[in-house]
Amino acid sequence: MTPFKTLDTADVAGKRVLVRVDLNVPMKDGAVTDATRIERILPTIRAIADRGGRAILLAHFGRPKGKADPSQSLAPIVPVLSEMLGRPVGFAEDYVGPVADGIVAHMADGDVLLLENTRFHAGEEGNDDAFAAQLASLGDLYVNDAFSAAHRAHASTEGLAHHLPSYAGLTMQAELEALEKGLGNPEKPVIAIVGGAKVSTKIDLLQNLVTKVDCLVIGGGMANTFLAALGKDVGKSLCEHELAGTANSIMEAAKGAGCTILLPVDAVVAREFKAGAANETVPVDRVPADAMILDVGPASVGAVNEWIDRAKTLVWNGPLGAFEITPFDHATMAAARHAAERTRAGALVSVAGGGDTVAALNQAGVAGDFTYVSTAGGAFLEWMEGKPLPGVDALRA
Ligand code: 3PG
Ligand code: MG
Repeated sequence: MTPFKTLDTADVAGKRVLVRVDLNVPMKDGAVTDATRIERILPTIRAIADRGGRAILLAHFGRPKGKADPSQSLAPIVPVLSEMLGRPVGFAEDYVGPVADGIVAHMADGDVLLLENTRFHAGEEGNDDAFAAQLASLGDLYVNDAFSAAHRAHASTEGLAHHLPSYAGLTMQAELEALEKGLGNPEKPVIAIVGGAKVSTKIDLLQNLVTKVDCLVIGGGMANTFLAALGKDVGKSLCEHELAGTANSIMEAAKGAGCTILLPVDAVVAREFKAGAANETVPVDRVPADAMILDVGPASVGAVNEWIDRAKTLVWNGPLGAFEITPFDHATMAAARHAAERTRAGALVSVAGGGDTVAALNQAGVAGDFTYVSTAGGAFLEWMEGKPLPGVDALRA
């Protein structure tokens, strides 16, 4: 694979550096509720500013569809970013045209400026070359530090790389290196854990994984679809019965590729989806007709943990059960803690990603123990699906 240029090789002193970051952070009532993505971009901004570069940050927020929408402004993020960075951050609301030229012309070495939501312009999502050229005229170099937006071929994530000398930011670099260790060129055996509600959103992912990994654990609601395809009665569980054929073909493909699929052998079932609901553990062929599966059972977790012991690499996307309500978080918490312990012991490379997965690892208190936890949602999934990521490919060109 063509390598990409890294930030440490860029001569940024006195240069205007356009930096694509991901500030699409969870917000409630105008306040940032999870600043992880902001934290991740600080090293790159500091590296540029400390070396006398002028950092001009580009980011999107929400999906305003090419029109200015004050409710999706990046302005409320400026004070948070400034505080976390420990230096002032300027803000430009109007950045295409003479006003922007003026603001940028007044920047001094080491200054940091954030431009308003790139998606307020239709040219962003349309990856319009004239728009990319306008953006490019504001800078001398382009740095992309937004892996989590790299599945989008937009002007600020892809187009700009064709106009300016381009580099991967420090977080983009760390992310790509971690992912390479996870699936690109992993130490074997490799175990993948995939959970979440639905098979329908993860068909491509499962099809790709069975050709790449030694063991594929299927948990969460999507396991029910596989159990049903095997003729088991899953009672009132979430289940996509219409996907039985897809589930069977994934199991066939796994057989052909020598990939072991681990499905639950026991399950924790309840009559209501609510915290503390009365529950029992049953083998998967004895799910009562009026009950639903809310977690995988202890025997199943034991089998997962045994595979984690044998594996040298783990890739994880999606919880094993309804981890957001107790006690149905047990399996996810137990497997997360076990993987963390093996990683701490130096026996396992563990890479996890996706919003729910990160929340589950935080709940288990082990996110910091994994080798790498990606803040990417869609981009992480597309990477696991083996799809090209336009934002990454543009850096390699
Ligand atoms: C994300 O939050 O997943 C990224 O910032 C990409 O956002 P999008 O799904 O709106 O393109
Ligand atoms: Mg998304």
